[in-house]
Amino acid sequence: MQHYLQFNDLSAQDTLYILERAAIIKQKFKAYEKYRPLVDRTLAMIFEKASTRTRVSFEAGMYQMGGSVVHLTTGDSQLGRAEPIEDSAKVISRMVDLVMIRTYEQTKIEAFAAHSRVPVINGLTNEFHPCQILADIFTFMEHRGSIAGKTVAWVGDGNNMANTWLQAAALLGFHLRVSTPSGYEVNEKTAAAPADMGAGSYKTFANPMEACAGADLITTDVWTSMGFEAENETRRQAFAAWQVNRAMMAAAAPDALFMHCLPAHRGEEVEAEVIDGPQSVVWDEAENRMHVQKALMEYLLLGRVAA
Ligand code: CP
Ligand code: NVA
Repeated sequence: MQHYLQFNDLSAQDTLYILERAAIIKQKFKAYEKYRPLVDRTLAMIFEKASTRTRVSFEAGMYQMGGSVVHLTTGDSQLGRAEPIEDSAKVISRMVDLVMIRTYEQTKIEAFAAHSRVPVINGLTNEFHPCQILADIFTFMEHRGSIAGKTVAWVGDGNNMANTWLQAAALLGFHLRVSTPSGYEVNEKTAAAPADMGAGSYKTFANPMEACAGADLITTDVWTSMGFEAENETRRQAFAAWQVNRAMMAAAAPDALFMHCLPAHRGEEVEAEVIDGPQSVVWDEAENRMHVQKALMEYLLLGRVAA
């Protein structure tokens, strides 16, 4: 049984297979072709934090593949009333075929997975957001082809998204440049990714403009992630020089793309002219969550399929 708790839980080969499948599955969806390999399968979705994209993409995706979903939140289940995570995992995984969890610490999803009879997917933790990076890389490939050897600039917080980019660079062999304000660096230990070793590693930059110079993709995220709201004001001040603006886009490669996992705050981490501008692919990126996750669920439940 395979879980997907971090980006590097799957090999490069399996990740690329899922991305290939995502393209096929997306094509079927666009052609209104019914594809229901998951009839009679049930996905439980556990949300301990808010969501729009993750919920809609998993729920719609599962229905499209013929399955069904159960939606649980901390507030309306025993999870919010201190039932041990191990007990919840044992019970829930006896009734469903697959579980997606959005929660706080990575240790919580690991504890759930350790006691689950079925595959568990990380729908965002404080440390990682693997499904989002899968969608981001799929989106890059759709627009520009293989990401191997390309340069991605991460500007902003050293958060769950940044940690996952670190793992993806190591797995898929692209250059990652990371620029964060001091005190908000990525956690090399969390991501367990190599630094400063060429393609497949990441390099840090004190100056975000330098990180963006010649990059093929510039990407950012909110300055304050869910669960860190108390730091909002301090972060707003610390991150002021890390807004992705037109000057940063101009410093990148002429055909550079802009991505943001959303939700976005125009005028904070990104200038409206950038996110709403011609280089932005954020709507494709959001839609692609559904296609890559359908491919991921197919893989976790059925393995490699023919055609
Ligand atoms: N990008 C993303 O995960 O969005 P939601 O928080 O809306 O699910
Ligand atoms: N880093 C953000 C991503 C939201 C999809 C958060 O964790 O809140």
